[in-house]
Amino acid sequence: MRPLETRDMTPADVEFAVKLERAAFGKTLGETTLLDDVGDRHKAFYCIARSGDERLGFAGIRFHGETAEVMTCVVVAAARRKGVGRALMKAMIDACEERGIKSLTLEVRPSNDAALAFYGAYGFSTVGLRKRYYKDGEDAVLMLRPIGGGR
Ligand SMILES: CC(C)(COP(=O)(O)OP(=O)(O)OC[C@H]1O[C@@H](n2cnc3c(N)ncnc32)[C@H](O)[C@@H]1OP(=O)(O)O)[C@@H](O)C(=O)NCCC(=O)NCCS
Repeated sequence: MRPLETRDMTPADVEFAVKLERAAFGKTLGETTLLDDVGDRHKAFYCIARSGDERLGFAGIRFHGETAEVMTCVVVAAARRKGVGRALMKAMIDACEERGIKSLTLEVRPSNDAALAFYGAYGFSTVGLRKRYYKDGEDAVLMLRPIGGGR
């Protein structure tokens, strides 16, 4: 495999991102939302993980004052457990540090064992529960990672 790298996401990556989210979640943030976010560097940061020309995953955060929120983080199924998620997480945390963000939050399904383990491995702690957060009625676990003074 060629070296794993991350780069900023561009509008040309949105079709890839939509397909990847649909494959992973059966739903997507949507082309319009993704295009808006990718086009506004003050509001959001989205990145692509790649090996040569092959795109292996993408992730995105939105900035809200001194906090930021993970909007999505998905790795191509065949490329999981090879450090792609780690590279995306590093890019997101670097983007937060550059902007002086103090904490990064996210919501995740309690049934998503891989994601809970992944976020836990990168310094996120559970700080709350959002009851019936998802359309199908499942709760969301709210996780937070301090930035700057954190890991
Ligand atoms: C969660 C996800 C992004 C992780 O990406 P990944 O590329 O597989 O993660 P990495 O290989 O970088 O793993 C880094 C660490 O996270 C933890 N981890 C990741 N996947 C795990 C799993 N399935 N089980 C247990 N721990 C896991 C491990 O500590 C791992 O380190 P290790 O492989 O040295 O043990 C990926 O599983 C995914 O795309 N899932 C579907 C989409 C999703 O649920 N996204 C999160 C909600 S938005």
